[in-house]
Amino acid sequence: MRQQKFEGIVSMPGPVELGRRLFCKWLAWFSFAGATVPFFARAASGAGADRVVVATTEELASAWSFREFTFTKEIESRGLRAASEFPGIAIRLPDGSFYVASLVCPHEGCLIEFEEPLLTCPCHRSAFDPVQDGKVLSGSAPRPPWKFNFIIEKGKIVVHGLEPGAEMRVR
Ligand code: FES
Repeated sequence: MRQQKFEGIVSMPGPVELGRRLFCKWLAWFSFAGATVPFFARAASGAGADRVVVATTEELASAWSFREFTFTKEIESRGLRAASEFPGIAIRLPDGSFYVASLVCPHEGCLIEFEEPLLTCPCHRSAFDPVQDGKVLSGSAPRPPWKFNFIIEKGKIVVHGLEPGAEMRVR
């Protein structure tokens, strides 16, 4: 009599098992893609929490042309970190350079407005001169608006930081 050797239970994956495996693989890939694609897309577009493309230099080609934007930065307050939004403005100055600053008034946090050639605060009538690096010309503001750090990258104005101490938010 021929003795059969016990090889254990070997189950071959059936169509349902194969379908489940395939589904799990796709799910893993979609999860990975869902987590990484937006990150790389933001990085490629220059958008995101710490990097904002404000405008192209071409869009702000003429003197006093400007573009308002919002910069998002994580701020720590009472032990909690949360994203805060800071409104800003990029202005092409007559000498061809750019003035890029916060629109939060350093006096009490009102929203500054731009009317060529000055930035003014409607709350206590502070006036700032972009040509003189935001110098306070009148009003209650104790200092010029906080400035944004920016670079010109392939014809784009890219804001990537805010001057330290600029945590005051719009009132
Ligand atoms: S809040 Fe702007 S001048 Fe007072």
